This record gives sequence, C-alpha cells and structure tokens, in this order.
Amino acid sequence: TVADLKGLKQGQLRLAVITTAKYFVPRLLGPFCQLYPGIEISLQVTNHERILERMVNNMDDLYIMSQVPESLDVSYEPFLDNPLVMFAPVNHPLAKEKNIPIGRLTNEPFIMREPGSGTRRAVQQLFDEHGVKVKVKLELGSNEAIKQAIAGGLGISVLSLHTLMPDSSEFSILDVEHFPIKRTWFLGYPAGKQLSIVARTYYEYLLEAAKKFVEETGFSAYSKSEDVPTSF
Ligand code: PGA
Repeated sequence: TVADLKGLKQGQLRLAVITTAKYFVPRLLGPFCQLYPGIEISLQVTNHERILERMVNNMDDLYIMSQVPESLDVSYEPFLDNPLVMFAPVNHPLAKEKNIPIGRLTNEPFIMREPGSGTRRAVQQLFDEHGVKVKVKLELGSNEAIKQAIAGGLGISVLSLHTLMPDSSEFSILDVEHFPIKRTWFLGYPAGKQLSIVARTYYEYLLEAAKKFVEETGFSAYSKSEDVPTSF
C-alpha cells in the first residue's frame, strides 16, 4: 500500500537554515512529519557565516540561505522572495511619509545585526553605495531581539519581511527609497553531493510548499516598495 511505501522513507534529515527561515520552515515540518513519520529531523537555525561553515564541513543534508556563496560550488534552487525592509515602531514620525530619501536615515538611531549576518552585510552594502552613515545605537545577534528593541523605541532596523508576523501591529514599515532590498531564499547543498532519499523527498516537498504559499499569499509579488504590505 501507499502507507507501506511511505514507511520506507526512514532516517535522519539534517537541515541548517538562515535565521529568517525559522519563520517559514518549522511550520512546514509538522505536515511533512505526518506524511513521513519514519523521518527524524534536526534543524539548525543560524546566520549566514555559520551556515557557510557548516556547508564547508558538510554537517547537514540541506541548507537554506539568502545569498549563494561565491567561494563554494553549490547546487541550489530559489524558492521564495525574502525582502529586507525598514522596521520602525508603529507610531514613528516617518511612518506616514512616502519615498523617504535614504539620507534621512542618518538621523535615526539604528539597530544592527551582528558581524557574520547576511542581513547586516546587505544593509551595509546599500548604505555604503549611497554614502549613508547611520548611528548604530545597538548591535544584536537576533531578529527577535531586534524586534523587541524596536517596539521598545530604541531605534529602527532592517529585517526580513518574514519576521513581521505575528506581531505586525507593533511595527510600521518605512517607505525608504531603494527598499526593500531584494533577496531570495535558496534551498541548496554542496555540488556533487549525493542526496539521501530522505533529503531528496524534503527538497521536493519544500519547493512544492513554497509554490503553494506564493499562490495563497501572493508573497512573491511584493517586489516594489509601494507593494510592501504592513501586514500579510
Ligand atoms: P542572517 O541572514 O541571519 O545571516 O542575517 C538572514 C537572511 O539572509 O535571510
């Protein structure tokens, strides 16, 4: 029977995903485990630099990241947009303004992710391109902690739109020129690596689930700043 066939899919699945993917991947594991109860999963959630280290040391079956490493040969497939947007407290003075010049940010206390973070690198690159120097008031190693600091009125920061839920009413997304920074989540593994049946099964499952998510939410359509919703 089909159930017997599914039972054949047994073993371990080791995933390592970028911090922002924790707002997407764990939710999908429930239905996946129901389909394949014989599979045991370990999930590491960490920043860009650590994911790279794990990949170099071949510590996991599959990886999710937002930037394909240049220094490694990787097989990968993009599966969902991961726009980086400017978060501010809900009642921030700039919240109602349109097309805020990026230079205006120099006056805003800014909260920055830790060195090794891909978000930090993307933000720094954009600011450097436009000669913007922000006042970094606080450096924090977690998207969740940054959200709490923003809600507490400490400053503004750039975060993945995926981190917005479930407390979107506490935040506004500022309409700053050159934002959102466009990024995409990739599912990948070191090129040439032979994937296990379990990993291959998960790979296909995740791509399918992402397709459904896009159909249901229209998420990928939010590419221009005018389209960025305050909630979704
Ligand atoms: P980071 O990456 O946690 O290294 O900032 C987030 C992302 O690339 O989505």
